[in-house]
Amino acid sequence: MLLKIIVLPGDGIGPEVAEQAVLVLHSVAEAFGHQLEVQNKLIGGAALTACNDPLPPDTIAACLASSAVLLGAVGSPAFDHNPSQLRPEAGLLRIRRELGAYANLRPAIFFSALEDCSPLRPEIVRGTNMMIVRELLGGAYFGQPRSIEGNPGSRVAVNTMRYGESEIERIARVAFDLAMKRRRKVLSVDKANVLECSRLWREVVTRVGKDYPEVKVAHQYVDSAAMLLVQRPTEFDVILTENMFGDILSDQAGGVVGSLGLLASASIGGPVGLYEPVHGSAPDIAGKGIANPLGAILSVAMMLRHSFHMEREAACVESAVSAALSQGARTSDLASKTHPSISTAEMGRKVLEAVRTAASASA
Ligand code: IPM
Ligand code: MG
Repeated sequence: MLLKIIVLPGDGIGPEVAEQAVLVLHSVAEAFGHQLEVQNKLIGGAALTACNDPLPPDTIAACLASSAVLLGAVGSPAFDHNPSQLRPEAGLLRIRRELGAYANLRPAIFFSALEDCSPLRPEIVRGTNMMIVRELLGGAYFGQPRSIEGNPGSRVAVNTMRYGESEIERIARVAFDLAMKRRRKVLSVDKANVLECSRLWREVVTRVGKDYPEVKVAHQYVDSAAMLLVQRPTEFDVILTENMFGDILSDQAGGVVGSLGLLASASIGGPVGLYEPVHGSAPDIAGKGIANPLGAILSVAMMLRHSFHMEREAACVESAVSAALSQGARTSDLASKTHPSISTAEMGRKVLEAVRTAASASA
C-alpha cells in the first residue's frame, strides 16, 4: 500500500519530534512492505516567517491531496503580539477546519515502566487507560462574533461559545462507537449548571446514548471531572467533551500518566486525518535535542490505525514504545536519579530498534 504523507513540522520542538516519528514510520513501512511517500510543508510560525501566512494555500492543497497528515507543533513567542489571524495557532485551527477534523481522539495510557514519573501514587494511577474525545471544530474556538473593541483602559473582549445539535450528535457518535470497542463507558463532561451550550450538549448526548444500550453513559460537570481525573483516573474509559474542556482535560491527563510528552492524538472525521502530539511547541527546550518524541511516534501509530486501518502496524509501534520504556529509555521529561535521560534522537532509535525486533518476530 502507498502511504502518501504530508508532514507539517511547525515550530519549536515540532520539527525534532516529527523527524523521529517519520523515521519510525519508515521502519514500519519497510518491515511490513508498504511504500511511503513523505513531503514536508509549512505551518504556524515557520510559515509566517516564510510567507506571512500561518497556513499557506499550498500547504492546504497538499494536505487535502494526501492520505494523512502528521503535525509536529505550532506556536512561537515571536508572534505573541500579532493579531489572531496572524498567530501561528491560527494555522493549526484552520488546518483542522480545512480537513473537517471534528473528532480529536486523545488517549492517555499509563505505562507500567513509568511508575516513578506520575505525581500520583502507583496504586492510584496503575491501570489508567482513557480516551478523551474532544470536539474540535466548535465552541469558543470558532464561535462568532469574537473581538476586542474600545479604547485602552475601557476595552471589551468578546468570545462566543456556540454548538449546534448536529455538531454535538456527530462527536457523540464517535465517542459511543469507540466505547463499544472498549469498556463501554462514556462520561460526558460539561458545565450544564451554567452554560446553555452544555445543556444542549447533555440533552443530545443522552438522546444519542439511547442508540447504544450496551454503553453506560454518565454526565459530569467539568470542575468535578477535573478533580476525579486526579483522584480516580482508572475509572475513566471514554470522556466525551467540547473543544475547550477537552483541551484542558487532555493536558491534565498527560500530567496524570507522567508526562504530556507521551500523549498522541488523532483529529478525524473529514476526508484526511491529522495526527499530532498533544504537547505544544515548548519553545524553552526547542533546538536542544531533549524533547520527548513519543507523543509524535504514538501519533504515527494512531495514523496507521485510523487512516490506514493497519492494526498490526499500529500495535507494533505501540508495543515498541512500551518496550523502549521498559528497557529504561527516558527523555528529560521522564528522567530520574535512577534513570538518566537520553536525547530525542536516541529515544527515536530505541523505538525504531524495537519496531524491527517486533516486526521480525511477528513475520
Ligand atoms: C492543543 C493545543 C492547541 C489547542 C493550540 C496550540 C491552539 O493546545 O492541540 O491542545 O488549543 O487546540
Ligand atoms: Mg492544548
